[in-house]
Parts: sequence; C-alpha cells; structure tokens
Amino acid sequence: MAKAFPTDNPFLRGYYGPVNTEADAAHLQITGEMPKELLGTLYRNGPNPQFAPRGPYHWFGGDGMIHAFHIENGNVSYKNRWVRTPKWEIENKEGEGLSGTFGNPRYTDPRVMALNSTIANTNIVWHGGKLLALEEAHAPFALDPATLMPVNGGYETWGDKLCGPFTAHPKIDPVTGEMVFFGYSAKGRFSKEVSLQSVTADGRITRAEILDGPYPSMIHDFAVTKNWIVLPIFPLTSSMERAMSGKPPFAWEPDKGTHIAFIPRNGTVADVKWVSAPASYVFHPMNHFETADGKVVVDVMKYDVAPLFPRPDGSPASDQPPRARLFRWTFDLDGHGNTFREQQLDDRSGEFPRFDERFCMSDYRHGWIVSGDITDPKTGEPRQDGLVHYDLETGKSTAWSAGKDDRFGEPIFVPRSETAAEGDGWLLSVLYRGEEKRSDLAVFEATDLGRGPIALAHLSSRVPAGFHGNWRPGTL
Ligand SMILES: [Fe+2]
Repeated sequence: MAKAFPTDNPFLRGYYGPVNTEADAAHLQITGEMPKELLGTLYRNGPNPQFAPRGPYHWFGGDGMIHAFHIENGNVSYKNRWVRTPKWEIENKEGEGLSGTFGNPRYTDPRVMALNSTIANTNIVWHGGKLLALEEAHAPFALDPATLMPVNGGYETWGDKLCGPFTAHPKIDPVTGEMVFFGYSAKGRFSKEVSLQSVTADGRITRAEILDGPYPSMIHDFAVTKNWIVLPIFPLTSSMERAMSGKPPFAWEPDKGTHIAFIPRNGTVADVKWVSAPASYVFHPMNHFETADGKVVVDVMKYDVAPLFPRPDGSPASDQPPRARLFRWTFDLDGHGNTFREQQLDDRSGEFPRFDERFCMSDYRHGWIVSGDITDPKTGEPRQDGLVHYDLETGKSTAWSAGKDDRFGEPIFVPRSETAAEGDGWLLSVLYRGEEKRSDLAVFEATDLGRGPIALAHLSSRVPAGFHGNWRPGTL
C-alpha cells in the first residue's frame, strides 16, 4: 500500500503537489486564436514524486514528469508521463519509495543502494534528433518524442563516452550544432572534480576532460561563448560526511567564495583561467557572449545567498527567502586590474531567464523571466507574479501578470520562422490557475506581453510547479 504524502512539506502540496495521473487529451479547449504557423511540441519537465519520500524531501529530488503540449494547425494536444527511469520502474513494481532524496544512502533501502538511477526531472532538450530528459547527476535519458517512453533503455552515453554526469543546462551552439556540457561531482558523489564535454549534432563526443575544482559544489548551470566555456563554482557545497551524519548534503558556505573557471573552447583544462568573485549564487544565466573587444559578458539571475539550502549545521542561510535579480557580469580576461565587473540591470526579482536561443553565444537584445520570488520554504508560499520581457537595447521592460493566485512557468521563446528577426515570435508559458487548481498553456506575442496571452489552451488538470522545458519544432 502506498503511503500518503506528508502534509508538512510545502513542496508536496498546493501548486507543488505531485499529480498521480497520466493523461492524454487530443483537443484542448482554446480561448483566443492559436497561431496556425505554430507547429511543434513544448516539453516541460519537473519533479513529481511517485511515492512518499524516505527521510527529508527536497523539491529538487522528485521523480521527473514530462508534460508535452503539441501544437499543430491551431489544435493543442496534451500528454503527461513520468520518466520511466530505473528508480521509477523498481519503485512502481514494489509500490513504495525506496531511495532517499538525492540518493542519500542514509535513507535508501539496501535493495537499491547500488542502483544509482537518474530521476531525470530538471530539463528536456532536443539535440541531434534525440529528446533528452536531464537532471544533473546522471547521464541524459532519451525519450520518444511522441510516446515519452524511453528509447533504447533510456540512458544516452554516446557509446559510453561520458566522463562524468550531465548538467541539466547544456548549451547548444546555434552555428555549429555542437552541444557543450559539464558534470559536477565527476569523480563520484560529492567530489570536487568537474567533467567538461561536447557532442556534435551527429553524436560524436569531441571533448572529454576533467577540471579540478576548489571544493565540491552544486553547479547548476554555466555559460559558453564563441571562445570560452565559463564554469562558475559557487559556495553551495556538498559533503558526503554531512550526508551520512544526517546533516544537509548541500549547504551554503559563503566563506569559500565564488570561483569562475574560463576554459578556451579550442584549448584544454590546462589553459584554464580562474577569476574570483564575492560569494553569490546563480542558478541560471540568461545569455552569454563576447564583446567586439574580447570581454566576456554573462547575464545572470543572481542571489546574494543561495536559496532553498541551509548552512552546514542545518540552520537557515538567511532570514528572508533570497531573491534573484538580473545582473550583467563582464569579465576582462586580459585586463591587469579588475577582471570582474557587475552591473544590476533590474531591481525586480525573478527566475527562469530565457532568450531567443538562435542568438545563444551572441550579443542579443531580448530576454524574458518569470518575475517574483520563488517559494518561501518556511511558509510554502510561492510568489511568482508574472512574466517580464527585457529589451536590453533600449533598457525598457514590459510585464504581464494574471490573477493573484496564478503562477507562471518558465517562458519559452519560439521564433515565427527559422529566419525571423531576433525576438520575432511567441512566448509560451504554462500558467497555474490557483483558484481553479488547473493549468493553461499560454501563448504570447513575445515582444508584446502587455497585450496578454493571444491564446490559452485549457487543461482540466494541473501541471505542478516545475523547472525547465523546450520547444521541438515540427510534427510528431
Ligand atoms: Fe535549472
């Protein structure tokens, strides 16, 4: 018998609560006009635990579930499926949860201690003809774009060529089609080494290196420019010793400082340049590029204190829930003085920065975020309040909000055509209608958010709070 979920964890109820049904809907009801030119599928990934957790639960530790919205000729269909990971399969068979959160051995059933399974719950990307569900501690997990079932057993290792885990935020070079990625804890759980790799669009691994980091850390995302791989190591540290003694496996240790590695794309880790910066935390950059005079620019949603994680002794890292704001970081790697400069671009807090990814690694004009704060872990109150469009050329921004109980998913840009100008297209976001406890897929004109959604596809069910998604163009 499956146990009920505990009621005292804000990430297991309300907007964050998992759904226990898998559905197919061929024709969602639509309000407004779904653009006829919009042809493709929006895949959204997020944690959705199948069973009650063993030991402490962290929002980042739930089983992945994919929500797929296929749009074709004005029609929207919907399908949601748990990712059939080895962990999900064995727990489904046994009818109970067997692994501690993040595979914490202290809470893991001895029967699955050696399983070391992905939970594939963070992102989903389309690259080289493969749909890959991602988290950050294991290999990608390949899914069929139409059925969402695993392809060839799931794990994609490009012929056993991975030399570490695989980030949930690989970067795809729009010019070459190359996908650049890293994996932290590359030499075993909570190790300080980081793998650096890349794979071509036709599936050839072209880099397999290990970078020695200053300390074991949770590295969620990174940046790639034309000439540099930029790997930031923030003082959100990890420790097996802590995990085994019941303390937080991941914790905020600002005294260790931020260390940012610059590795040349046409060089090796032996050529790494390190830049130190004040302690901060960034889950996500927006875009990243080089200026004409060779400076490296990385736009980030920066927190002064890492959110959602405590200090090493388990006490809160800050009194108030930390907020991320948009900053522009500029690095002058050839400079003799200050190599690091930061400029705040907006006072609004937010998360989930995205941009027109055809302009990844290039100077760019348009970006979007979900504005508001992420959930307060004490009260469980999610406070995301809208979508914001930034015009970085004019410095202007426009926002759109819905009802006070409505919540916004990551905004995903879809160009009007392959050759459309930057920002010319639509912005897609999965909205949660708090009063009605159900979700809508909302479609906006990407640079005219103030107009509100031009089309809404209505679900009768709920898409729980999640993380990232991407668009795969074309028919299924
Ligand atoms: Fe992320």
